[in-house]
Amino acid sequence: DKAQIGVTGLAVMGSNLARNFARNGLTVAVHNRTAARTRALVEEFGDEGAFVPAESAEDFVAALERPRRLILMVKAGEPTDAVIREFAPLLEPGDVVIDGGNAHFADTRRRERELRELGIHFVGTGVSGGEEGALHGPSIMPGGSAEAYASLGPLLERIAAKAKDGAPCVTHIGPDGAGHFVKMVHNGIEYADMQLIAEAYHLLRSVAGYSPEQISRTFRSWNTGRLDSYLIEITAEVLSHIDDATDEPFVDVVADEAEQKGTGRWTVQIALDLGVPVPGIAEAVFARSLSGHTELRRASGELPGPAAAPLGEAEAAAFADQVEQALYASKIVSYTQGFHQIRVGSETYGWGIDLGAVAAVWRAGCIIRAAFLDRIRAAYDAEPGLVSLLSDKGFTEEIGAAQEDWRAVVAGAALRGVPTPGFSAALAYYDALRAQRLPAALTQGQRDFFGAHSYRRTDREGAFHTLWGGDRSEVRAD
Ligand code: 6PG
Repeated sequence: DKAQIGVTGLAVMGSNLARNFARNGLTVAVHNRTAARTRALVEEFGDEGAFVPAESAEDFVAALERPRRLILMVKAGEPTDAVIREFAPLLEPGDVVIDGGNAHFADTRRRERELRELGIHFVGTGVSGGEEGALHGPSIMPGGSAEAYASLGPLLERIAAKAKDGAPCVTHIGPDGAGHFVKMVHNGIEYADMQLIAEAYHLLRSVAGYSPEQISRTFRSWNTGRLDSYLIEITAEVLSHIDDATDEPFVDVVADEAEQKGTGRWTVQIALDLGVPVPGIAEAVFARSLSGHTELRRASGELPGPAAAPLGEAEAAAFADQVEQALYASKIVSYTQGFHQIRVGSETYGWGIDLGAVAAVWRAGCIIRAAFLDRIRAAYDAEPGLVSLLSDKGFTEEIGAAQEDWRAVVAGAALRGVPTPGFSAALAYYDALRAQRLPAALTQGQRDFFGAHSYRRTDREGAFHTLWGGDRSEVRAD
């Protein structure tokens, strides 16, 4: 029998996806650059379903039913191009090549264009959920043509995570690079969520004086409420873990230098290019970067800070409640920024992305899965043209109810010298959006003064310039 789908690149993500397809009753061709890995997969997991091992690229392609559907699970960048160069000559018009790696959407757009000229569909697909997700049900974000999705979608639905209402967490995001773009923003939001949780931990530890175990319990209780999410759940696990070697809390023996593979950085780079303000995501990327600059941190050890005693027990409990409010409010802001970026990306590239559908496929399987995403979906379903998530009535009310505690937390953190770039940037974004007037008017005046860059007025149409070096009369600048 021919295979309905093939997976090439059998590192752990590729192997687990292949096994997921097989466990769901599909015949899966498997291939790897070094054949030993293909053999190992079939040896170890062959009884889970129908695998067709292929040693060569030719055998792999020959094992697939037509139109062929083959998933590339190789490293992003040049390794992906190399595999495409290897397979493209073996394929025929109508075949579908799926890239399930964390590719940059601009690369995906280029590859889609190049393969389209050969009549081959290229489907850049975001896959989230790590190794476990790949095996038990990831959240899947395919781009590419609607025609390709028609042939591929039903297979992806079989292996995708299922939301609580039973809906598979996969949808056709939009043409060419739309899927990888949305996965990129997912990761940007992932960074922001992680940073906000880290700040909450830092405050509970340094200001409330809680132990990692107490903070773990606090997060467990938050996880039963509106913050119910995978990232809060695993944070509680990490915090309660005790290091074997030292018998100390694990979190105290890990080097405090956060790494990154780069998708959060891409989100911010692209946001800058698109002119979309995503300060929450940017602060999360910068916080990781700052933590890794050990030379800078070592050179700054003598910088003075405030004198502050930890809170008493009753105060600490009240403060923890305020931190929950600050975390929730900041989370709403991060998602507002991420969805804004997707909306602008969709408009810029003509993708026609349904933001409610994006929220829906993030409800299960992916790293940022959370009860909260149901709310976001409902907000966009009720008003697909929603300009800002914050202006959804439900979110406006919730953030309004949280704002005083949120301010108290940011102010308290500043007074006590605990860095909260995520909470603070989120609050500044919120207050900037609320402001009737922003000092941007003054910025415009400065620009006009030193560079005759002109400005617009509140009372009349057109561009104007003041003759700052002359009699300061105003002239038209358009
Ligand atoms: C996912 C994740 C995943 C990502 C890692 C690591 O959705 O499953 O986003 O794709 O690569 O979480 O990212 P960093 O190394 O950049 O933290």
